Amino acid sequence: MTIDNLLGQSTHPDILILSGDIADKGAADSYQRVRATIAQCPFPVHVMTGNHDDRRALLKAFPECPTFDDATGKRYAQYSLDVKGLRVVCLDTLKHGRHGGALCEARANWLAAQLAAHPVTPTLIVMHHPPVIAGLDWMDPRPHEAWLQRFGAAIKGHKQVIGIACGHLHRPVAASFDATPVSITPAVAPAVSLDLRPVNFSKADGRGIVDAEPPGYALHRWKDGQLVTHFQPVGDWTRLATFEDHLVPMMEALEAEKS
Ligand SMILES: [Fe+2]
Repeated sequence: MTIDNLLGQSTHPDILILSGDIADKGAADSYQRVRATIAQCPFPVHVMTGNHDDRRALLKAFPECPTFDDATGKRYAQYSLDVKGLRVVCLDTLKHGRHGGALCEARANWLAAQLAAHPVTPTLIVMHHPPVIAGLDWMDPRPHEAWLQRFGAAIKGHKQVIGIACGHLHRPVAASFDATPVSITPAVAPAVSLDLRPVNFSKADGRGIVDAEPPGYALHRWKDGQLVTHFQPVGDWTRLATFEDHLVPMMEALEAEKS
């Protein structure tokens, strides 16, 4: 349904990034279903890991996915893309067995080297796990976590990083990391409930955890040096207005006041 919405838009994106949690339990047949679904896309589709993924199964199902191989030969779904003047750096923040993010020294060093090699090219970092405290206590990282520290050190001082795009929270969220804008895409799966109260992790309080909100996606527009992110929910609703002849005077007036 979500991919139909994207394909039904009047303009198509240059690329689609599936920003992790592509399969719920990392099953091979799940990846094949995703592969079959995205086959209809007339634009490149790139995959990333999330905490629900099995990296080996994902890379097997998507052998075209570029990898970073560390000194031990371990392969990560971590790579850079050039998209019409925008450098897109996709990080692999998966550590099997962890729900939260991870960025080992090898991956963090790779990120630092990538940024050092392209110091002036506008760069968007994409990572499944947001490096922010969103107020969703049971989903949030803690500031002292090593992977957050490594990430912060790797991007520190790199002014070419114009944004960080994430997933994982299953909510549309705008935030910042230091002074860098962070966008978090809504999910195609059910949403994490919006409840900003701290959690007593040893005492159940009946709060909402997951809601069947509409799925959605983030559309990043890179044009004239500006990155703008739109969050698009997906569902059936009534369009209340279309551009017809009687609206031409209003449209012309709107444009005229900008002269
Ligand atoms: Fe996740």
